Amino acid sequence: MSRYARITGWGKYVPDKVLTNDDLAEMVDTNDEWITAHTGIKRRHIRSDHETASSMAVNASRPALEKAKLTPQDLDLIIVANNSPDYILPGVANIVQDKLGAECGAFTLVNGCSGWVYALVTASQFIQTGIYNNILVVGVEIVSFAVDWEDRKTCVLFGDAAAAVVLQPSEEPSGVLTFELGSDGSGAEYLYVPAGGTVKPIALNAESITANRDGFLKMNGQGLLRFATRTVAKSLKRVIYQAGLTPDDIDLFIPHQTSARLIEFFARQLRQPLDKFFINIHKYANTSAASVPLALVEAIEEGRVKSGDTVAVIAFGAGLTWASAVIQMGVGEISPAHSLFSIGRARYLAKRAQGVIVDTAQAVVLPLYTFVQVRRQANRRK
Ligand SMILES: CC(C)(COP(=O)(O)OP(=O)(O)OC[C@H]1O[C@@H](n2cnc3c(N)ncnc32)[C@H](O)[C@@H]1OP(=O)(O)O)[C@@H](O)C(=O)NCCC(=O)NCCS
Repeated sequence: MSRYARITGWGKYVPDKVLTNDDLAEMVDTNDEWITAHTGIKRRHIRSDHETASSMAVNASRPALEKAKLTPQDLDLIIVANNSPDYILPGVANIVQDKLGAECGAFTLVNGCSGWVYALVTASQFIQTGIYNNILVVGVEIVSFAVDWEDRKTCVLFGDAAAAVVLQPSEEPSGVLTFELGSDGSGAEYLYVPAGGTVKPIALNAESITANRDGFLKMNGQGLLRFATRTVAKSLKRVIYQAGLTPDDIDLFIPHQTSARLIEFFARQLRQPLDKFFINIHKYANTSAASVPLALVEAIEEGRVKSGDTVAVIAFGAGLTWASAVIQMGVGEISPAHSLFSIGRARYLAKRAQGVIVDTAQAVVLPLYTFVQVRRQANRRK
C-alpha cells in the first residue's frame, strides 16, 4: 500500500508595513520605472520592529494547522526553512515549536531561497516511510534585516513574509510525486553575507565589517541570472518527465519569485503560456525561502490551484541551490479509518527508530492508542 504526503493545510503571513518603489526612490538613487522594468516588483512588505522570524512563522502556521484541523500538539515534526533567524543560535524552528506549544521535534533548514522546497521534500520522506503523520513545513524570511539599504542593486529586490503547509498521510497519489535537489557551492559568493560566520566573526572584525558593509547581503546579479537561465527549465523538465508527464500536463507552475522577466524567460524555455505561471512578485518582491510557499498558498486561496491539480514548483538561489518538484493536490477528505493501520505502524516504527524497546503489549497498545487519537481528530474535523 503506497503512502503519500498530502498537503492538508496552508497559511500565510505578511507584515502590514509596505514599502513601495516610490518610497525606495527617496532612500536610494532608483525609480519605479527601473525596478518595474527589470524585476516586475512594485512593492514589498517589511516587518515592524516587534516582529521576528519566529513570530511571523507562528502567524502563518496557525491558519495552516486550523485548515488541517490539527492542534499544535498533534504535530510530529516541524521544519522551518529560514535564512534570517531570530538569533545565530538556536535555529528559529525550536522557537516556533515553543511559541506554538507543540511537543515534537523541530529543526531549521538553511538552504537559501530553495530551503522550503528542500523542507517539503524532507518532510514528505518522513511521512512516506511511515515514521510521522502530521508535519508542519514553514518558510519564513525577514530579508530586510540583512539588506544594505544604501545599495540600490539589492535593496529593491527583497521583502519579508512567511507561509506554511501541513502534510499528512494519504493513500491517494498526492503531495510530492517527483523532485530534484541541486547544489553548486562553487557559486557560494554569488549571494552571501560575508561576515557573521567563522570566516569573519563579528566580534573579531567589527571595524572592517562596518567599513566594508560586510554584515549585509552581497549579490552578483548577472551571475545569478546566468545560473537561473541554465538551471531552472532543465530541472523542471526532468521532474515533470520523471512523473510521466509533459509540461503541457502541468496545471500551474509556481516559480521562485525573483524577477518577472526571469519567469517570462522560463515560460518561453518550457514553451508554456505565461498565464500558467503564478506571479505575485509585484506585491511581495523576493521573499527568499518564503517565496514558493507564499505563492502556493496564494494560488490555492485564489482558486488557481484546486484539488486534483498538478503543480510544478521550483526554487533557486543562495548556495547556489535549486529544488524542483511535481506536486499533486489531494482530492477529498483524509479518511481516518483507512489510515489507522499505517498510522499505528508509523508510531511503532517511530518508537523503534528512537531506540525505544517496543514489546508485544506495546505493539498492541500503540495502534489502539492511535485509534483513540485518530477518532478524536476525526471528531474535531466534523
Ligand atoms: C538584479 C537584476 C534585476 C539587475 O538587472 P541587470 O540588468 O543585471 O542590472 P545590472 O546589475 O547589470 O545593472 C545595470 C545598470 O542598472 C543600474 N541599477 C542597478 N540597480 C538599480 C536600481 N535599483 N535602480 C536604478 N538603476 C539600477 C546599475 O547601477 C547599472 O548601471 P551602470 O550600467 O550605469 O553601472 C538582474 O541581474 C537579476 O534579475 N538577477 C537575478 C537576481 C536573482 O535571481 N537574485 C536572487 C536569487 S534568490
